[in-house]
Amino acid sequence: MPATMQELITKTCDLPAVPDVANRVMQLLADPDSTPEMVCKTIASDQSLTARILKIANSPFYGCLRTINNLKSAIVIIGYSAVRSLVIAVSTREVYKNFGLTERMLWEHSVGVGIGSHLLGKEVRLSKLDDVFVCGLMHDLGKVVMNNSDPDRYRRVMEGMYNEGGESLEVEQGVFGFSHPEVGALVVRKWNLPEELEQAVRFHHDIDQLAGQDSYLHLLASILSLSDTICQRLGIGSRGVDNSITVQDSQAAKNLGLSGDRLDALMAAVEKAYNEERSNFG
Ligand SMILES: [Fe+2]
Ligand SMILES: [Fe+2]
Repeated sequence: MPATMQELITKTCDLPAVPDVANRVMQLLADPDSTPEMVCKTIASDQSLTARILKIANSPFYGCLRTINNLKSAIVIIGYSAVRSLVIAVSTREVYKNFGLTERMLWEHSVGVGIGSHLLGKEVRLSKLDDVFVCGLMHDLGKVVMNNSDPDRYRRVMEGMYNEGGESLEVEQGVFGFSHPEVGALVVRKWNLPEELEQAVRFHHDIDQLAGQDSYLHLLASILSLSDTICQRLGIGSRGVDNSITVQDSQAAKNLGLSGDRLDALMAAVEKAYNEERSNFG
């Protein structure tokens, strides 16, 4: 990203920081000398974080057969990497401050893309599924940051998209001089998340820029893009089902080798998983 673009973004947008407790938890989770007790104590200092983590840890998403009713069990049963992704999920949700219709739709879309990415990642046997989920959840965070930072200008973007049928990237570029993938990527970097997450968010509307580079990154971006397309087709976090979208023809599906009945079944699975799990991410 050119330095001038980054300057323009940081001048216009208030890039959110990771909430304090979440930050401390993430540092502990990255520290090989930390113990589950230390992580537990830090999370427990924030009641709402604790409640949200337990709620999501008990959702079908983590597929635990027995009820997890305390933090220590959550950490031991679902593991550090999953707890880290939950802390990021809760921190991401906090960026959606003014929870009006726009934010609700954007959040539902993000949860759908997160759940869908996780499912697709599992299907193509990609590693680091917790990161894949986080990436889906954060992919459009740039939109929320732009909306929080300058709601009047973002309203013009929404009008341009819905009333005039413009593409989000072009309308954003016209109104702000930059678009949401660049903003989202800067937030991912600010939160010290892995570089491949930053790149996948940056290129989620232009995945073939990553062709020929690191194959994990290209697959991750393709998963993100396919999950995004599936959610738009199904109307998850948008104004309704969009039959004009043909998921089967997408470049992302081709990159992942998914087609025909297998892809249809995956779409049905994404819809089912989203409907079952959405309330846990409220
Ligand atoms: Fe996007
Ligand atoms: Fe999206």
